[in-house]
Amino acid sequence: MEKIIDGKAVAARIKEEIKEEIERTGVKPCLAVVLVGEDPASKVYVGNKKKACEYCGIGSLSYELPADTGEEELLELIHKLNNDDKVNGILVQLPLPPHISEDRVIDAISPDKDVDGFSKQSAGALMTGEKGFLPCTPAGIIELLKSYNVEISGKNCVVMGRSNIVGKPAALLLLRENGTVTVTHTKTENIKEITGKADILVAAVGKPRLIDESYVKEGAVIIDVGIHRLDPEKNNGKKLCGDVDFDSVAEKASLITPVPGGVGPMTIAMLMKNTLLAVKR
Ligand code: GUN
Repeated sequence: MEKIIDGKAVAARIKEEIKEEIERTGVKPCLAVVLVGEDPASKVYVGNKKKACEYCGIGSLSYELPADTGEEELLELIHKLNNDDKVNGILVQLPLPPHISEDRVIDAISPDKDVDGFSKQSAGALMTGEKGFLPCTPAGIIELLKSYNVEISGKNCVVMGRSNIVGKPAALLLLRENGTVTVTHTKTENIKEITGKADILVAAVGKPRLIDESYVKEGAVIIDVGIHRLDPEKNNGKKLCGDVDFDSVAEKASLITPVPGGVGPMTIAMLMKNTLLAVKR
């Protein structure tokens, strides 16, 4: 169907461009990937990030630490990687175990190696429009919209969710593109009145299939950031779903991202882009 946004294809094109640039220029980027604990989803994400590095010609250093690793020990590793000239980017997969402060760990990463774009310096740069690393998922959303020639300027953009990783930065990036941006959250009243006016709707609520056709305007562009595991036996063989009830919303949307194969691959492609950028800077 024409209206499905093929994130996998757009991400493949971006990774191809990165691979070619690395071959042409002979640069040797290196990403340090840090995983603490045994979270199965995090293991899959980290594995996919390492695979993408290999494809693009980016070296990766893997640090898989046990769940009972202390905060100080993790901070020491970050300091060591900050001071290692061979390492251009540092990625600490979230969530971290509850006894470790994510804020402290993220802020320990040197701003010029913060390829996830999560540090306070990167957030400040995003806010003011200065040069910095853009967070990968929100940057990937903008790339997808541009790849499909979706006009953002002047359009009603509604971002559902206000996390530091997705909702807030996505809203700021849409604003940078001159969208008229509204952010909704769990305390928003009459939410469907707001989402029902969206030309572009970004769903980052973390609830499986919450958004059905009653939230959506005819002809809207739908970007689904959610990813949730399903029992395939109860879901016609489907293993994953997003925050959007795809089948009902696809009827009304002019463009829609699937899960999987929409935003997810873009997050990884933008991480590769940031890692190459880290070398150039
Ligand atoms: N956990 C969920 N998404 C992300 C991401 O984009 N980067 C990191 N480091 N952890 C995550």
